[in-house]
This record gives sequence, C-alpha cells and structure tokens, in this order.
Amino acid sequence: MKGIILAGGKGTRLRPLTKITCKQLLPVYDRPMIYYPVQTLVSSGITDILVIVAPDYAGQFLHLLGSGKEFGAHFSYAIQEEPRGLPEAFIIGEDFMDNEPVTMILGDNIFDTSFSPEIANFTTGGLVFAKQVPDPQRFGVVEFDSHMRAVSFEEKPKDPKSQFAVVGLYIYDHHVVEYAKSLTPSARGELEITDIHKLYLKHNQLKVSTFTGLWEDAGTFDSLLAVSNYMAAKAKGEVR
Ligand code: G1P
Repeated sequence: MKGIILAGGKGTRLRPLTKITCKQLLPVYDRPMIYYPVQTLVSSGITDILVIVAPDYAGQFLHLLGSGKEFGAHFSYAIQEEPRGLPEAFIIGEDFMDNEPVTMILGDNIFDTSFSPEIANFTTGGLVFAKQVPDPQRFGVVEFDSHMRAVSFEEKPKDPKSQFAVVGLYIYDHHVVEYAKSLTPSARGELEITDIHKLYLKHNQLKVSTFTGLWEDAGTFDSLLAVSNYMAAKAKGEVR
C-alpha cells in the first residue's frame, strides 16, 4: 500500500494566515498541520509516501519533512501546478503508485483514529469513511439506505441528503488512476473526488465505513482553533 498526502491549494479561506505560507504548514497546537496526516499514514503502516504540494511553498515542505527518516518513512515529492482538484493527485502519482493500491489523505485533515486494520485488510475496490457532522454542506456527503449501504454522493450540497460527511482519507485500488483520467471538471473548475466515489459505486466496488473518533478538516479559522484546542487538551492528558 502506497500513501499520498495532498497538500496543494492556496488556502484562501485562511488569509491572512496563508499570505506568506500555506495552510498545511500552519501550527496545530505544537506542530505543523501536515505532521498529523503523516502520523496517520505512518501509524497505519504506510511508509512509502508521495507528498504533493503547490509550487509556491515546495521548498518549505522539503525543508520541514526531508527524506522522511525522522518519521520512519520515505517521502517523495511532486508538484500540483494549479489546484485542479483532488483526483489529479492520482494522475500525478501514477508512476509512484506503480499499479499498487493507495491511501490518500488530505494535508488539512486531522484524525485521532488509526486506520491500520482497514488498510491491512484492503484488497480491491474503494474504501472511504464517513462521519456525522453538524455542517455537511462543507463536505462531500454520502446518503445511506436503511441497511447503511451508500446510495448517493454529492459534493458540498446546499441541501444535504444526510449528515454524513465523507472525510479526506481514501483507500483505492490502482483503477483510481484510470477513473481520475476519465473525469471532467465540475462547475467550480476542479476534478471532484466525489466523482471517483460515484464511479466505484457504479461498479459495485465501493465500501463506506462510518467511524466516531476525532476528525477535523482544519480549513477554517474555527476548525483550526477547535483541533488545536483538542490536541492541547490531549497533550495535557485531558482527553484520552
Ligand atoms: C474535499 C472534498 C470533500 C471532502 C473534504 C474532506 O473538500 O472535495 O468531498 O468531504 O475534502 O475534508 P475541500 O477540501 O475541497 O473543501
């Protein structure tokens, strides 16, 4: 299993914090945000990791993360020239993946959960994770039937069909590369990860698991503060 951390984008919602650096390098309590997705992958047993970054701050990522040795991992780096959407990571990472399955995590997604059993047991298809949130409009949303089988996905719907957000950690087999290449940009001009889920669903190859541990997309001031507070409390032994 290969790993990809996608840390592209301009982080415009966090200006002026992101005027001179990028979102994934901002502090979350006592460490840079990207340490958390690194930790999530490494603690799940993934050590061969491609870090995809925007051109402007590529040098800072290299400086911070280096070879990966410090984290017990091996990092490779690639550039996403423009924020053309999450699925582009699989096109950029095609040679890196080399026909193996991949777990992709977004550089601003922070978990306090290990995915090692799911990753160790993964064979084919796609496996994505959903969590109930109060503000599903911010995310990709999955609708379940009465047997908790996924029936539809929508990207940032105004009128969500459920409270279940699809979180930014995705496990796919190598077919994801051809699926990503087949997509066309959405109205916001990006390839959408939600369209990848829909393709796996169409081929009856998608599993959606729910989980209850901490998850934040630290892309807004409030979520950045909330997750920093959580990590501070955890470091002081106030949460387990
Ligand atoms: C992206 C995905 C969305 C997913 C979210 C998780 O949103 O497009 O489906 O729920 O990550 O953080 P974005 O980061 O583009 O707002």
